[in-house]
This record gives sequence, structure tokens and C-alpha cells, in this order.
Amino acid sequence: MSKLFDVTKLNGMTLKNRFVRSATAEGMATVDGEATPRLINLMTALAEGGVGLIITGHAYVAKRGQATPAQLGIYDDKLIPGLRAMTDAVHAREGKIVAQLAHSGMLAIPKLINKPPLAPSAMEGLIEAPLQEMILEDIQATVEAFGKAAGRACEAGFDGVQIHAAHSYLLSQFLSPAFNHRIDAYGGPIENRARIILEVVETIRSRVGKDYPLLIKMNCRDFLEGGLELEDSMQAGAMLKQAGLDAIEVSGGTFASGDLMPSRTGIVTEGNEAYFQDEARAFKQRIDIPIILVGGIRSFLVAERLVNDHMADYISMCRPFIREPGLINRWLSGDREKATCLSDSKCFRPALAGKGVYCVEEKRLRDKKGGRHFP
Ligand SMILES: Cc1cc2nc3c(=O)[nH]c(=O)nc-3n(C[C@H](O)[C@H](O)[C@H](O)COP(=O)(O)O)c2cc1C
Repeated sequence: MSKLFDVTKLNGMTLKNRFVRSATAEGMATVDGEATPRLINLMTALAEGGVGLIITGHAYVAKRGQATPAQLGIYDDKLIPGLRAMTDAVHAREGKIVAQLAHSGMLAIPKLINKPPLAPSAMEGLIEAPLQEMILEDIQATVEAFGKAAGRACEAGFDGVQIHAAHSYLLSQFLSPAFNHRIDAYGGPIENRARIILEVVETIRSRVGKDYPLLIKMNCRDFLEGGLELEDSMQAGAMLKQAGLDAIEVSGGTFASGDLMPSRTGIVTEGNEAYFQDEARAFKQRIDIPIILVGGIRSFLVAERLVNDHMADYISMCRPFIREPGLINRWLSGDREKATCLSDSKCFRPALAGKGVYCVEEKRLRDKKGGRHFP
């Protein structure tokens, strides 16, 4: 049996294989961020499809941190019953589910939050909206919001939480010298730029205890001039491990990184799959912590090589599961053809518009086929 189907444990959370559904903003919640039957059905399909661990789409921990319409929220206790229905549905199918906790910072949509977006620095140029530079009270309130959100996740039955510190969302903005120009204790050297995340980890641990699985998704590099580089991200990772983190999902890129964005397109050969593999290997060599690798993994054999060659402990995918929620069971059944995902990223459009994520190309093909059957 392939190592990909090993049963493993992450701080007590038993996982039936090494496959992870990377956080995917589904755009299927209500205007207030409540889980809907449609979103729960998607989670059910993923659990039935055999993936070892599902990570929810980024859930906003504070209203000011909302990034898109119909985004999942975790900012208030009133959202717990919907979240509980989601975890119950996954657990009934022997699945595991972790909530991704997020604040979008400068990427919040002013129209949705009715205020200027918060940011480490009120920089100009990259974002059109006027930004509001966070004062210490804002930082403390944000750290507290992450802590409370983790408490809600625990109460709602999630198997763990993942801190979203990647892709130029708020915590990633703090890590990045391109977005963080502060001259106080939260800016400057990496020890300072990582401070808010260390405080988030500490606050979450104080609420949920040391036995609750706590993951992070972070950039290895921003792929942006003046942005976060590998040496600093590894240093931050090492500090976070010290602070009590259980696993790191290695990603990279920002909204301003052009072709080197987190969800790269044109992944058509095995050679351009797993585009953060070199950085993941560096993380694994430097930090003694389980590494979850995401970014352009499409082939079973590539996934197997990444694990066998000690570049990653877990294989995380996003777009492949949008098209094929049952991908892992297909691979388990012996059909090892690569994921049918075309990596065209057209799935972003309906997801970010709050219309519900789906594979645009697959729908086009389905409609065409339907058309032939029912002219
Ligand atoms: C529609 C869509 C929504 C996404 N939402 C999130 C999210 O909520 N949180 C996150 O960390 N990454 C998000 N991502 C990025 C993916 O999790 C992943 O890092 C990236 O797409 C690369 O993996 P892939 O090549 O397997 O798609 C999203 C990507 C897509 C296409």
C-alpha cells in the first residue's frame, strides 16, 4: 500500500490518509456568514470522496475581516449551530474537518465591511481603498478575535483549526516587508513581523488547550519584490513550532505576485506540479514539524514521490477537489490517472462572487452533453 494511505496522527487527530483538501472559499454561506445546506452538502461530498482532512474555506473571525460575499463566518456564537451541522455531517461519514480562521486585512471589501480595511501599514498603490493602519488596540482585538473564533470552532465540533497566514491576508501582510512598514514591536525584523501570529497561537492555546490540533498555512515566499523570503518564513515557522503549532501548510504568493500567485495556472506536466516543493523541502530540513504541501499537485505519482522523498508529510489540493470531490476514492480504487483539474482557475469567479464554487469547464462540458441529450 502506498504511503499516501498511511493512517497518521496530528496531535491526537487520526487521519485515514495523507490527503488534505486545502482551504477553499466556497462562497456558499449566507450574507451573515452562516453555513447553508448547500455548503454542508459540499463538505459531505468531500468526506464521502475519501479525503483524509477537509479544511474549510477561510472563515472570518471579525466582521471587519470579511473578504467576499457569502464567505463563511466564525465571528459570533450565533454561527455555531450551522458550523455544528457541518462538522456532524463530516463526522457521520468518518471524515475529519478543520476550520480555517482568517482576517483579510487590507483585502477586505470596503462595501461589505462599511469601513476602510485594516492593514499593518496604510500604504498606497497596491490597493485602491484607503486603508486604516492598525493601532495597538486593533492588534489586540484581532488577536482576541482569533482566540474566540478557535473557541467557537472547538465548540462546534471541528477537529482542529488552521490559522490563515498566507496569500497576503492580514497575518501574511504582517509577515511581509512589502506590506508591513511598521516601526513598532510588530514591524521590522522577522521576530517582530511574526509577533501578532505568535500572540494568536498563544491566545488560541490558552482557550483550547495544548491537545487541540493547531495548524497554520503560511507563505514560504511572497514572490514579490521586497516581500517575504524563504529564510524569514522558515524562521517564523521555527518560532511558531516553538510556540506550540502542530503542522505547517506551505504555500506562497500574493494577490500582487502575477503569474507566481498561490493558485498558478497551466499545470499540465508533472514537471510543473508542486511548485513550492523546493521550499517545502527546506522547511522540512529546518523545522521538525509535519509539513503539508499545497500548490499544483495533480498526479498520484508526484504526490507519492513528495512523501517518499521527505518533501512533505501531507498532500494538499484545492482546485482538483472542486472538479472531483471523489478524487481520493478514485485513486484508492486503483484508477491512478491524474486529477482532471485543468488548473485554469476559472473556479475563482463564482466563488469570489458569492455564487458558490464549481468547476466552470466541467459545467460547460456537462451542459453541452445535456444539450445533446435534450435538444
Ligand atoms: C476558488 C478558490 C478559493 C480559495 N480559497 C482559499 C481560502 O479560503 N483559503 C486559503 O488559504 N486558500 C484558498 N485558496 C488557495 C488554495 O487553497 C490553494 O492554496 C491553491 O489553489 C493552490 O492549490 P491547488 O493548485 O491544488 O489549487 C483558494 C483557491 C481557489 C481556486
